[in-house]
Amino acid sequence: MNPSSAVDRYAVIGNPIVQSKSPIIHGLFAAATDQQMEYTKVEGRIGDFAKQLDELRAVGMRGMNVTAPFKLEAFAYATHLSESAKLAGAVNALKFEGAEVHAQNFDGIGLVNDIERNHKTPMKGKRVLLLGAGGAVRGALLPFARCEPALLVVANRTVAKAQELVDMLRTQSAANVQASSYEDLREPFDVIVNGTSASLFGDAPAVPHAAFSVDGLAYEMAYGKGATPFLLLAQAAGARRMVDGVGMLVEQAALAFEWWRGVRPSTVQAIHQLTVPIDFS
Ligand code: ATR
Repeated sequence: MNPSSAVDRYAVIGNPIVQSKSPIIHGLFAAATDQQMEYTKVEGRIGDFAKQLDELRAVGMRGMNVTAPFKLEAFAYATHLSESAKLAGAVNALKFEGAEVHAQNFDGIGLVNDIERNHKTPMKGKRVLLLGAGGAVRGALLPFARCEPALLVVANRTVAKAQELVDMLRTQSAANVQASSYEDLREPFDVIVNGTSASLFGDAPAVPHAAFSVDGLAYEMAYGKGATPFLLLAQAAGARRMVDGVGMLVEQAALAFEWWRGVRPSTVQAIHQLTVPIDFS
């Protein structure tokens, strides 16, 4: 890489990284907003993340997106953590300014933007259910609480982990938030988001049918995995609105792009281009 290059350089780092759609998304944003920049994929070196970032900065990298398994190491590497990064305990976007490393986590707010704007499902006054208590859900908590749902429930197989997240959120927010087991979910929710990694194991969180509602939104945070066990569960429970996380991916990218470049791209074209129809047959 050439530090004197006229083109500003950005990249996504992860391992594996071949699957990443971020270069396509940022390429579309850059073309639409007339930004002179390059955005590439970098395969992260396991156990050597900080040194690799030092090297990339030394050759002129301006900012990076960070994906699995480096979000915690990026948190440790940052010199300036945003509120979203602190609350998530993880980082998905970095901006390099001299010796300073600014860090953000746009996953949660990207998810909220996708649900509320793209799927036209405002959460204010609604019953909202987050499934899981790992990093994905932790990052979503405060952005969800700020939408002022009537009730925000965090349900997890290991209830103690959901309770820990709820206790943490209560120190930050006055939202009506509760922890639950799956079997105790007896009333229908307006929005249910699967933030567990159960589908990686061909499994769905054991949510009773009664938690789904016909007009509610069933949202799989993962993207492009087709009819996952969670989405099939939603369908079996009678839900009609089942979506995956393509919009979350694009919305978090748009927030990073705006943070780096000072211009807000439209997300419509990228979402359209990356959407893979879910086949429920
Ligand atoms: P991430 O950082 O990607 O969110 P994580 O911290 O490993 O990953 O969290 C994974 C989440 O998926 C947890 O909530 C986990 O439930 P437990 O806390 O009870 O382990 C959940 N999970 C994983 N496999 C699951 C399964 N087969 N059924 C239900 N929940 C599952």
